[in-house]
Amino acid sequence: MAGGNDAPFTIDVSPRIKRLPPYLFARINALKADKRRAGNDVIDLGMGNPIDPSPDFVIDKLAEAAHDPKNHRYSASVGIFNLRREVALKYKRRYGVELDPNTEVVATIGSKEGFSHLMLALLGSGDTVVVGDPAYPIHMYAVALAGGNVISVPLGNDEAFLARIEHVLKNLYPRPKLIVLNYPHNPAAVTVDAPFYEKAVALARQYNVLIVNDFAYGETCFDGYKAPSFLATPGAKEVGVEFSTMSKPYNMAGWRVGFCCGNSEIVRALSTIKGYYDYGHFAPIQVASILALRNGDEFVREQCLIYEKRRDVLVAGLRKIGWTVENPRASMFVWAKVAEKHLAGQGSIDFCYRVLEEADVAMAPGRGFGENGEGFVRIALVENELRIKQALRQMDAALNGRKRHVRPSNLSRADMEARPASAIVDAMQDAAGEHGQSSLIGG
Ligand SMILES: Cc1ncc(COP(=O)(O)O)c(C=O)c1O
Repeated sequence: MAGGNDAPFTIDVSPRIKRLPPYLFARINALKADKRRAGNDVIDLGMGNPIDPSPDFVIDKLAEAAHDPKNHRYSASVGIFNLRREVALKYKRRYGVELDPNTEVVATIGSKEGFSHLMLALLGSGDTVVVGDPAYPIHMYAVALAGGNVISVPLGNDEAFLARIEHVLKNLYPRPKLIVLNYPHNPAAVTVDAPFYEKAVALARQYNVLIVNDFAYGETCFDGYKAPSFLATPGAKEVGVEFSTMSKPYNMAGWRVGFCCGNSEIVRALSTIKGYYDYGHFAPIQVASILALRNGDEFVREQCLIYEKRRDVLVAGLRKIGWTVENPRASMFVWAKVAEKHLAGQGSIDFCYRVLEEADVAMAPGRGFGENGEGFVRIALVENELRIKQALRQMDAALNGRKRHVRPSNLSRADMEARPASAIVDAMQDAAGEHGQSSLIGG
């Protein structure tokens, strides 16, 4: 052997990878993949991955723009000007917020990429960030990957939550650099009204701490509720930024288009990092996204009605099963407290495993989003109403010992018709491990 070194060759990954927490869902994901391989019809309400199609007029524009060779070159890492301008126009139209497309808007490869790189742009080793618990996992992992530390504060949407944050700001040294907010919230579907942000901005100014609001579900609202934009708060642009996305309102999750808007220095820091890491989206995706932002308001409204109806079916069914469930007025999720008698002393991870095993229904265990998620499950509105009803029947049978109407391996014609084609694609992706770690809790 060259050099005579007989020691086994080792690969030592970076400390930043070693800092990531252990993966809690391997067992559940493995069971889901096994079941699908065995031909079981798993009803997957685990991930907030939209099942409905992107708008036809947007797809048509993508195809047209893809035929133009001038769109085949590298694009701009911050997004083309016309896309950033369209985002600014939409903020003005919907929230009355003025944004300079040149300095206050940057396009990101989905808001998840944007958020993650923003943490890299803002944090140094040992910096601390306040995050509510439970939280969308990347709000914690991106901080860890950037070398920072998360200070978890029990989640809320009121004075008490802000008082808990203030307590941390007052007493922690060095003082946290940043507060992550996320309303409408994933996973807890918690919402706020405008005065909440006014108090948050005052807190940020008083303690010189930045605010990043993740507004991924800003347009996915029900019952006439309109989620306020953090940026519409006076003074917000001085202290922070807001992430938005095409993924949820326009069913364009796979297109990977998001935005970071607000404070120009923060936007510049993110743009700088992105300038080193990427060349921006494929230009036709940006051209098509412009059209979605310009002409897609009605599409977004209709999609909200679809989620609203699914939510009604799910909430009513869960209550019938015996669970205490709040009616969410936004987001793509129902955050449900599992009845004690159904938990039967188990944690939410084991409980979800059992429901998957016995009812062929996949949900995201609350514990995966933080300690305060224990005892809850997150159920995504990503199956049609018939399939949600079917999931509820199967859960009722498994948990309350009622008769199961349809065996998964012996589907009725109606069930087959109710099954979206995406379930088949999901099964293939699960088998290939394509969703990787995020298959249950990612979206
Ligand atoms: C709160 C929240 N932020 C961000 C994202 C990621 O969105 P994007 O597709 O824009 O990366 C999700 C996806 O589920 C989410 O729930």
